[in-house]
Amino acid sequence: MTTDPLFGRWTARIDQHLHGILPDPDTAPQGLHQAMRYAVLGNGKRMRPLLVHASGALFGADPARLDAPASAVELIHAYSLVHDDLPAMDDDALRRGRPTTHVAFDEATAILAGDALQALAFALLAQAPMPPALAVECLRVLAGAAGAAGMCGGQALDIDATGRRQALPDLERMHALKTGALIHAAIRMGALCGGAGADDLARLDGFAGALGLAFQVRDDILDIEASSEQLGKTAGKDAAQDKSTFPALLGLEGAKARLEALAIDMHHALAPFGPRAEALSALADLAIRRSH
Ligand code: IPE
Ligand code: IPE
Ligand code: MG
Ligand code: MG
Ligand code: MG
Repeated sequence: MTTDPLFGRWTARIDQHLHGILPDPDTAPQGLHQAMRYAVLGNGKRMRPLLVHASGALFGADPARLDAPASAVELIHAYSLVHDDLPAMDDDALRRGRPTTHVAFDEATAILAGDALQALAFALLAQAPMPPALAVECLRVLAGAAGAAGMCGGQALDIDATGRRQALPDLERMHALKTGALIHAAIRMGALCGGAGADDLARLDGFAGALGLAFQVRDDILDIEASSEQLGKTAGKDAAQDKSTFPALLGLEGAKARLEALAIDMHHALAPFGPRAEALSALADLAIRRSH
């Protein structure tokens, strides 16, 4: 996602770990295993696992301890995309520059691949090379962020809000859950693995809240401004499906202004950490300025 050498190294590490933990595509049930690999590997930006590494690095965490939480959050994210694209949800045919999982395989296989990716995320954390109390804490954080009080809850709100205008606080809550929760979990797991204290965790919560919202606001702006080729997913879907988004409620310029305000919030939240937070700060900039 970037030419920054540190991010390049982390991305290679993340991809290698994901390769190793996904089931063998030549072992039965081959279709399921192939669909799981198809959904995860390939062109993702790896934003959430990069956040695990950047947040862990802020507290000097051993990168080997970050592999499991980094992969676990990417597995949950990849599963959320597979299900988000299903005909019953956003009904999308293009993802990460190629056919969506239900198009490349079939709907039943895509549903099961999503289910199995979610289970794999938790299995991975449960056997992670870290003290058991820390693994349980990561499990608690990720499960909370994935479920009804997190991503799934936000997706339900998204479906409910489709075709109607919702008030700004409700839109923000929907974004905070459907996208913000996993981003928050990524940052928190990294910090926990580095032994961050309560004050630092609270500071990072402020940062994560702004980044989670900003990430979805940027996604909604790109849906309008970018092409399908650039995005690797179908552009113009939100307006076509009458989705409730920031640009729909505030206009494109209003959404962009909000994004700039969130960028300032993020930099304020990281300021107390000084130069140690450079990687997190660079990821925040990428999230806001990204073109896909
Ligand atoms: C897309 O996430 C869905 C949202 C939550 C906005 P990403 O933009 O991180 O997608 P990938 O992982 O790079 O494909
Ligand atoms: C999806 O939001 C958020 C998820 C939890 C998957 P979108 O529906 O806007 O994501 P894209 O644009 O399809 O990637
Ligand atoms: Mg959606
Ligand atoms: Mg979608
Ligand atoms: Mg979108």
